[in-house]
Amino acid sequence: MPLTSGLSGQRVLVTAASSGIGYGAAEAFLREGARVVINSSNQEKLDGAVAKLAPLGEIHGVQGNLAAKTDLEKIVNFAVSQMGGIDTLVYVTGSPKPGGFLEFSYEDWRGASDLLVVSPAYLGKLVAEHMIKEKIRGRMVFLSSYVIKEPTLGIALSSVCRVAVLSLVRTLGRELGPKNIRVNGIMPGFIQTGRIDQLAQDAARRRSIRPEDWVKELETEIPLGRIGTTEELARAIVFLGSEMSSYMSGATIPVDGAILRSI
Ligand SMILES: NC(=O)c1ccc[n+]([C@@H]2O[C@H](COP(=O)([O-])OP(=O)(O)OC[C@H]3O[C@@H](n4cnc5c(N)ncnc54)[C@H](OP(=O)(O)O)[C@@H]3O)[C@@H](O)[C@H]2O)c1
Repeated sequence: MPLTSGLSGQRVLVTAASSGIGYGAAEAFLREGARVVINSSNQEKLDGAVAKLAPLGEIHGVQGNLAAKTDLEKIVNFAVSQMGGIDTLVYVTGSPKPGGFLEFSYEDWRGASDLLVVSPAYLGKLVAEHMIKEKIRGRMVFLSSYVIKEPTLGIALSSVCRVAVLSLVRTLGRELGPKNIRVNGIMPGFIQTGRIDQLAQDAARRRSIRPEDWVKELETEIPLGRIGTTEELARAIVFLGSEMSSYMSGATIPVDGAILRSI
């Protein structure tokens, strides 16, 4: 059997996609002939991304804050009304602020929980209900981070809250398998986006070094010797978001240049 994505005409929703990992995923699905809805919280950035992607195929944008319940409902309703349904959900989210454990307040933990725990769970529920009702052979891909296997100092909110996504993927994989919905996850390592710039600035501030020195230091820790690109990550997202991965569900795989040490 040839390894083709079969995504032509498939309906894909990608969240947090006005830049970075989500944008790269949306671009890759469009290149495979899919119809795509992207979301982000900033209307201006979203409009810019839609305009840039428009030459590649059918693309729509829906503004919405992933940390707000009614916005999650709006995003799913919009995608269904624009495309007639959702075959693949690619869940990416915003970044919690960097920092050490002692720097965060109660409100920081509540905010990070809404963005990183409640939002993937509730969005997953809404999309699953839609797929079950419409008898869609669906796919979901949840992006998290390699820190769910190896907590990393300086990003405590992310390290703690994202662990929930690992269990969410396994839970949904098992519960939704009998409904013909496959659910998988990806733990990216370091991928060249605005998030890397943010982490470099933060490390530079706390350690009195230059941001570029932090990046160099980081690259020596990555066995493949460099930060990955959004295109490289998008290939794995397309694989899990299409029938190329037809016997996979409940799995979370690293795409990280082998930075992860744990087994
Ligand atoms: N880059 C990496 O190395 C790396 C590694 C592991 C995990 N991650 C995680 O991957 C996710 C994507 O990050 P990225 O690297 O692609 O960074 P990015 O380029 O900064 O992209 C973040 C995206 O999230 C959107 N966003 C932020 N808050 C949102 C919200 N409340 N609701 C909806 N959309 C929101 C942003 O758009 P608007 O500003 O328009 O809302 C933007 O499109 C983050 O959770 C990040 O922590 C990144």
